[in-house]
Amino acid sequence: MISTDKVHNITEALRKLSQPLRITSVESDGTPRGVYVAPLLPEQLGDRTFCREVGILYPYLGGSMAKGISSVAMVLELGCAGMLGFFGAAGLPYTEVEAAVDSLADADFRYGFNLIHSPHEPDLEAALAELYIRRNVRLVEASAFMTLTLPLVRYRTHGIHRAADGEIIAPNRIIAKVSREELAEKFFSPPPEKLLRQLVDEGAITAGQAELASQIPMAQDVTAEADSGGHTDNRPAIALFPTINSLASRMEQKFGYSVKLRVGLAGGIATPAAAAAAFTMGAAYIMTGSVNQSCVESGTSDAVRRMLAETRQADVTMAPAADMFEMGVTVQVLKRGTMFPMRATKLYEIYRSYDRLDAIPAPEREKLEKALFLAPLGDIWRDTRAFFLLRDPRQVERAERDPKHLMALVFRWYLGQAAHWAKDGASNRTMDYQVWCGPAMGAFNEWAAGSFLAAPEQRRVATVARNLLFGAALLTRANILRYQEIKLPADFRIEPLEDIQIKEYLA
Ligand SMILES: Cc1cc2nc3c(=O)[nH]c(=O)nc-3n(C[C@H](O)[C@H](O)[C@H](O)COP(=O)(O)O)c2cc1C
Repeated sequence: MISTDKVHNITEALRKLSQPLRITSVESDGTPRGVYVAPLLPEQLGDRTFCREVGILYPYLGGSMAKGISSVAMVLELGCAGMLGFFGAAGLPYTEVEAAVDSLADADFRYGFNLIHSPHEPDLEAALAELYIRRNVRLVEASAFMTLTLPLVRYRTHGIHRAADGEIIAPNRIIAKVSREELAEKFFSPPPEKLLRQLVDEGAITAGQAELASQIPMAQDVTAEADSGGHTDNRPAIALFPTINSLASRMEQKFGYSVKLRVGLAGGIATPAAAAAAFTMGAAYIMTGSVNQSCVESGTSDAVRRMLAETRQADVTMAPAADMFEMGVTVQVLKRGTMFPMRATKLYEIYRSYDRLDAIPAPEREKLEKALFLAPLGDIWRDTRAFFLLRDPRQVERAERDPKHLMALVFRWYLGQAAHWAKDGASNRTMDYQVWCGPAMGAFNEWAAGSFLAAPEQRRVATVARNLLFGAALLTRANILRYQEIKLPADFRIEPLEDIQIKEYLA
């Protein structure tokens, strides 16, 4: 056993992250022993070259949240705090994404936009890639890709050139979000030759540029996304990260890149302990989502923010996704305070059981019209048809040929609206709110209970982020004492701190 001589207050000493901590302890046989904890600042966590190259101070990214839930305000708040936020472009009409690009055009901080694979709307995916190219959006979060597409490769290779010193410069950077090895492998590889050839044939790049592009990875940085809010494969972070990280070093060797491939971690991170674990495993950066939705800057309603602040670990479940409903794809959502998951699952069961709306037995159909749609299904189809005539008329043509597709579009109306009712705080539709959320939300609430961060109106996205980073550094320092058999004080806890307190500790 080791007894320590008096360090007045070990917790306080550990919190002064920039100060080394020296403790003289005495072994049971009386031998004195020096124990040392080095300074560890939040900006030292993660990969310094990642931060430098991306142009941020802290290895902390706010992930894209669809329909502008990760709003311009959130991107701005994170950017001004030396971190990086992605604008949630998915599910928004083109003009709204363009407006967000406009409002961030003169920003003097780093930010990025989501480029989400849209199997149902390939034209929109291509149009967004063009918009980002044209308006010099230099960083995108690529997500939901199952394979690499032409617009994505076009974005990555646009403007590629060789600098005077011989270095290959690709001005557009992709941070890819994946939950599977196979996909990480595609992003860590150079762009597929076939797509490069197609771009050359179209005159989008020159043969020389294609040659340069064949020497760089599609994405130097990949975010391994474990069990998270929204679309997720529900992988445990501690199982997923080491696999993707080891793949990165194998791919780096295989292609002999001149740059280092890096891996960040998302999914389940909303506490200092989770952040510390991510960095300990070797994460270049961490990415959060669920917790940010409960913050004041998020583009959702106060009603949802309040629901999120009440959420506990087990209050989330998987439910059918609106965008890939027919394929049986699911998303992680809140189940407490809403009947959405149950109702959406019911719709999927009906979709699987019948081949057209008219085949649904009358009592079942009546229930749907009364409880979910609040209108005859014929009226819903009329509105849906009008919507698609403007957005994508091919859907209408197909639905009028194929009654099962018509049924899918009507059911997807409910799933799509359910996200809007939540975002808009529609008071007559609380039981239908679709709120994407992962177990991280419950973890955060438990950690923040009893502190100022328990109240949703106090949750600022950068304050939460600073706390996670500060707490991760503090816990890492505390562990260095534990590993040297120094007992931490019984009341040692990592508590939420106000910005001003964090600033003082870092001074
Ligand atoms: C409300 C919400 C919406 C999301 N929408 C998107 C999206 O449109 N595109 C995307 O790449 N990821 C999306 N995500 C995933 C986040 O960007 C992030 O990867 C994830 O939330 C991290 O895991 P966590 O929820 O456990 O923090 C969403 C997550 C949430 C909670």
